[in-house]
Amino acid sequence: MKVVISIGGSVIASPKPNVNYIKNFSQLIKKLTTEGHDIKVVVGGGAIAREYIQALRELGASEDYCDKSGILATRLNAMLISAAFGVYKDIPEDLNIKCSDIFIIGGIKPGQTTDAVSAEIAAKCKADLLINATNVDGIYDSDPRKNPSAIKLKEIKSEKLIELVEQVHKAGLSTIIDPVAAKIIHRNKIRTIVLDGRNLESIEKAIKGENHGGTLVS
Ligand code: UTP
Repeated sequence: MKVVISIGGSVIASPKPNVNYIKNFSQLIKKLTTEGHDIKVVVGGGAIAREYIQALRELGASEDYCDKSGILATRLNAMLISAAFGVYKDIPEDLNIKCSDIFIIGGIKPGQTTDAVSAEIAAKCKADLLINATNVDGIYDSDPRKNPSAIKLKEIKSEKLIELVEQVHKAGLSTIIDPVAAKIIHRNKIRTIVLDGRNLESIEKAIKGENHGGTLVS
């Protein structure tokens, strides 16, 4: 299977780099690759992105400038994953490259998050599955951090997902999937699973078609 995994910065660094997790994550990807899967990894910015965005905003920076700092944070985190594979190349800065050359990447342009980068790669490379591995265990009918009685959804239609996350992008915006990504997923009918990336077993289960405990976007 061709799979794009969008791994949240909050999963690989919370807030400092989780070296053990990163090692185990890379072991899993190596194992899945040996089993014949073609995996591409998109890395998020997490706490470091949010801290810089907040500081820049307080300093009066434009949204565009804040986004650019977030992108740098995603590339910094992507370097951690790359190093775990013994790959010391520069992290690609755009998608004007062949699918076969995309392996580990972070953010690419202002106005979105790495959710959108992963959806774009999934569309461009005709992936069978997009996994959004985050620090929440799926998509809820409302934000579970704000509403304790929010209900987790086993499945959601992509047009409903667009309604759920409908808002304008802002640097550091925190929605389960960013609105730009939701539209790309819907337009390209990308099979997407949102799951708890802290649990590596659920990433493996999602790829193997087993019960992953997350939410399927269909
Ligand atoms: P993330 O993709 O990490 O956003 O990008 P996130 O939703 O906060 O994800 P987690 O916490 O890693 O799970 C961080 C910020 O970087 C900018 C945006 O401001 C985003 O909020 N960014 C990222 C871009 O502007 N363009 C990109 O392509 C990627």
